Amino acid sequence: MPEYYKKLLKNNKEWVEARLAEDTHFFERLADGQKPPVLWIGCADSRVPANEITGTAPGEVFVHRNIANMVIHTDMNMLSVLDYAVTVLEVRHVIVCGHYGCGGVLAAMSNKQFGLIDNWVRHIKDVYHLHRDELNAIVDEESRARRFVELNVIEQVYDLGKTSIIQNAWRHRQMPYIHGWAYDIREGLVKDLSVSINDDSTLEQVYKMD
Ligand code: CO
Repeated sequence: MPEYYKKLLKNNKEWVEARLAEDTHFFERLADGQKPPVLWIGCADSRVPANEITGTAPGEVFVHRNIANMVIHTDMNMLSVLDYAVTVLEVRHVIVCGHYGCGGVLAAMSNKQFGLIDNWVRHIKDVYHLHRDELNAIVDEESRARRFVELNVIEQVYDLGKTSIIQNAWRHRQMPYIHGWAYDIREGLVKDLSVSINDDSTLEQVYKMD
């Protein structure tokens, strides 16, 4: 294992050399500041790295990741990232990216205990409950899990829309657009779930703030 660890540091040196070979000012420019057009809310899963799968460079994507790409409205970590990205950096797009085969989503579908994480998974179970008629009607378990991943992403898109942070940004600059994606680990492709929203017209009345 120490060799593996040392390899990461060696990789870093090589990466710096490669960047500088392409562009001698690469790091100087990044050090000047950031103005990323995108906030990414994704799963912590090691197989879904935001920059790599979207072909984006350092400086392009502001990233928040947690188990099953959840938007929990009492999560200070998520809210702080969201407020900074939306209010200060003024990102134009927020992408919620889930992925098929998500361990958090599969845990939420099961009745097993996993320990402390059960309390986080409860939020995902609530999404199942909300869509139980559609999900229970899907007999094949893998198909049901895939649809659950999609519905969970869509629900997080609307949960973002329910925050005052997003509603104030929509009011002041008609942005950001919030999108829902599902990434397929087996083929590397993203499915755009076509839920892009940039106003509160799709929100239930009770969630709209003056
Ligand atoms: Co996951």
